[in-house]
Amino acid sequence: MPNTDEILARTGGRPLNSVLFSAERIAGRVTEIGAEITAAIPEGEELLVLGTLKGSFIFLSDLVREIRRPMEVDFLIASSYGSGIKTSGQVDLLYHDATGVTGKHVVLVEDIVDSGTTLNRLIPLLEASRPLSLEVCALLHKHIAADLVKEPRWVGFDCPQEFVIGYGLDHSEQYRNLPFIGAIEP
Ligand code: IMP
Ligand code: MG
Repeated sequence: MPNTDEILARTGGRPLNSVLFSAERIAGRVTEIGAEITAAIPEGEELLVLGTLKGSFIFLSDLVREIRRPMEVDFLIASSYGSGIKTSGQVDLLYHDATGVTGKHVVLVEDIVDSGTTLNRLIPLLEASRPLSLEVCALLHKHIAADLVKEPRWVGFDCPQEFVIGYGLDHSEQYRNLPFIGAIEP
């Protein structure tokens, strides 16, 4: 676990409520999920790992190196929070289907499933392009979404119902670079 000085140096003096997942614990879990995804993708079939920006950028970059299959990597932008901490219920989506989804195993990589609004918007959209398969891999899952159109097949950690930051997750665009995941008082 990081010590208090390290946390404060990285947050600009803002204390965290708690460190939930250390860098070491995250790395161990990413290795496990990478192995599971490797086993799930048949050799010789096309794989596209599709990350949601910006929150998944660190998770995805660690994860793809633990998947021992040829793959394409692409990103889409799905933003539902703006600068606040409550979901707006609307999802701004930016995706240019340059790599192509059709006929590929698609693993959609999310930083966190909170209200589920983002996933519920993305899944039907991607399914319309007829991937060979479509599965969700979420680093964190708050388990508060009532009507998810698709449960993530892979989840890094169940997440307490707090506002969490670090390892890609932000609060008002800050703290994405923390190597661990912590909770803050919003
Ligand atoms: P959902 O659409 O409500 O499931 O939320 C999806 C997006 O909201 C995530 O991809 C995150 O970018 C953001 N989000 C939700 N909860 C948190 C949190 O606790 N910390 C930081 N970002 C969050
Ligand atoms: Mg965000």
